[in-house]
Amino acid sequence: VITPTLPQSTVMDVETILESLTLEEKSRLTSGSSFWRTAPVARLGVPAIQVSDGPHGLRSQDPAAGDHVGLGDSAPATCFPTASAIASSWNPALLGRVGEALAKEAKALKVSVVLGPGVNIKRSPLCGRNFEYFSEDPLLTAELAAAMVDGIQEQGVGASLKHYAANNQETDRMRVDVQVDERTMREIYLPAFETVVRRCQPWTVMCSYNKVNGESASANSWLLDTVLRGEFGFNGLVISDWGAVYDRVAALRAGTDLEMPPHRRSPGRVAQAVESGEVPIEVLDARARAVLELVAKGRHVLELDERVDLDAHHYLAREAAAESIVLLRNEGGVLPLAKGTSVALIGELARTPRYQGAGSSQVNPTRLDSVLESMTGQFDVTFAPGYLLDDGHGSDGSDADLRARAVEVARSAEVVVVCIGLPAADESEGFDRTHMHLPRAHLEALAAVAEANPRVITVLANGSTVVLDEVTQLSAAVVEAWLGGQAAGSAIVDVLSGEVNPSGRLAETIPLRLEDNSSFLNFPGDSQEVRYGEGIFVGYRGYDASRLEVCYPFGFGLSYTQFELSDLSVVTQGNAAAGDLKATVTVTLANTGVRDGAEVVQVYVSDLESSAARPVRELAGFAKVQVPAGESREVLIELEQRAFSYFSTRLGRWVVEPGEFSVEVGQHSRELPLATVIRVDAPSIGAALTADSTLHEWLADPVMVRLIAQEVAGGQADPSRDPHLVSVIGSAPMSTLVAFEGLSLDEEALERVVKRRAQLRE
Ligand code: BGC
Repeated sequence: VITPTLPQSTVMDVETILESLTLEEKSRLTSGSSFWRTAPVARLGVPAIQVSDGPHGLRSQDPAAGDHVGLGDSAPATCFPTASAIASSWNPALLGRVGEALAKEAKALKVSVVLGPGVNIKRSPLCGRNFEYFSEDPLLTAELAAAMVDGIQEQGVGASLKHYAANNQETDRMRVDVQVDERTMREIYLPAFETVVRRCQPWTVMCSYNKVNGESASANSWLLDTVLRGEFGFNGLVISDWGAVYDRVAALRAGTDLEMPPHRRSPGRVAQAVESGEVPIEVLDARARAVLELVAKGRHVLELDERVDLDAHHYLAREAAAESIVLLRNEGGVLPLAKGTSVALIGELARTPRYQGAGSSQVNPTRLDSVLESMTGQFDVTFAPGYLLDDGHGSDGSDADLRARAVEVARSAEVVVVCIGLPAADESEGFDRTHMHLPRAHLEALAAVAEANPRVITVLANGSTVVLDEVTQLSAAVVEAWLGGQAAGSAIVDVLSGEVNPSGRLAETIPLRLEDNSSFLNFPGDSQEVRYGEGIFVGYRGYDASRLEVCYPFGFGLSYTQFELSDLSVVTQGNAAAGDLKATVTVTLANTGVRDGAEVVQVYVSDLESSAARPVRELAGFAKVQVPAGESREVLIELEQRAFSYFSTRLGRWVVEPGEFSVEVGQHSRELPLATVIRVDAPSIGAALTADSTLHEWLADPVMVRLIAQEVAGGQADPSRDPHLVSVIGSAPMSTLVAFEGLSLDEEALERVVKRRAQLRE
């Protein structure tokens, strides 16, 4: 946890102020005073502080006005790559630098809290806000988000970790009841919140719109009180998503400190509830205290006169966008392009970039680079739009004349760079997609130019994944550039020219078909309810468990150089019983090519002998390593006990089971050339055998088998001697079986062995 040293003109003594507040003042503090500001208490010198959206740039509107999810007249700010882009960098340090830049811009705009990052897991490729989220994997999400939160907070600006929790779709987002089992919550949807809270103590956590198992997130005491504050140790402020408080009194009790935007009637209701005894004053004090503490931390921003080097931030946005690009295909080494190559540049998106998604995260950029401008000068470029941009009225932009002109241009060039992508109208906060396809008009333009010139390099602009089988077949190279922010255009050219060696790796699987995704049958639900029927098998955990081919696997990405991994060693220390089991994984990474480059070394763990259903493998650690051409680096990755654990609902805690685990290392989730098996010693978690345990369970326990043998010695019906009989009756509880004729164990004998077994356990 980083505690910045802040210049404070006067100390704000929260406890003294709290004691001096009237009931009305306390109640008013628990709602904002405007769309983007907390409530001031002028007589006690408590100022109002401002919050603004993130997560990939500031959307700072006039704090008194604001139009929620529109751009309004928000101040110009650097638009960094969206979360789905920057997650592909797999580089926490980069996220830290972007966080720092966000905070500096926040300070310049007198914003005390950045409303981000969003750490919701990509359950379905269709979620309308996937561009705002990092990954389908909780560990990757957690590591990236933690780095960003530290980057922001080291500057003395707060972050808001959102949207807590299980907010994985936009359809009916304000009413939908997410039915999800506890193990899935603990293993998939909560870990990113858990890690960031434990490691960085974000100043705020934003509760989501949806219900979780019957209770809205803002009034969910299990989520807010038991888990977030009780278990994860969160000591900051819970802010509501904008309009996520449906019952202010219930939300107050459950743990939502600050309702945003303010609801006219809330302060009155809160005061009344305290007066009537419905809400203890201690609860209101805790909420008001959280607001005062936030103001105390954030108010120094109001006194700053921070200047931002927007050029430097633009270059950081460009560096970040370039590092986020994933090279998916590069047949015959068509990339990188030599300077001066004659390029047919096709696609309106090359001239009119799509670089961010719509909704509350939309930034008013300080500058905007296009591929067309950035290429001109370096290459011999001829541009043809090839298609029209979606007009938002149902036409997908198909235009035969534009296509014909594109073919003509493609024919006479050495290579063709085709920029295609999702239309803006397809990706936004507020609704989900219904399919994963690129617009027909874009694919038609691609197919037409590919027929004229096979040296096609396709550059994609999309925030959520799209199906790519057709694109792959038509292209010699495929460059996934995501929604890369305001410098995406120049960053793409940096990669095409080889100025930057691509090092992005997929933070989510690109499936062959939407239907292959494990949430397919349960997305987006109906009748105001969605059931997370796939459980923990989200993303690659689902594709792997169902043994499905995918288009491009989780973790995948190419480079202009080659890497080789060797010399795997895994050394464990500590022990599972004490909770301090650790494993140190070391490998050698060699850059065997002729260009400098960075590789992401990925470590996956599988439990080979689990009593619970577990994913085939799970990402347990990773490191992004820069290696000069021809050189090697030793890479060390530490795994914590959690990497071997699963959440046992029966025991209500994380457990490691004894036995063998495989540790695999490689360059993506389906290319893991190095593997080793380690044995982990841990206490057995088997439940005590009782009369209600089944015959199978009894026979699986050698001690019990011995005890039964002693009891039935001489009897004719020892069931363990008849395997067929055991298969038939094995899943019946012993208490039921003893009532059957022919089993030489009666009720008294049963009681005796259960007792004896329990004694031996002690
Ligand atoms: C979004 C949040 C955002 C808030 C404020 C909501 O619609 O879900 O992510 O921070 O608005 O704009």
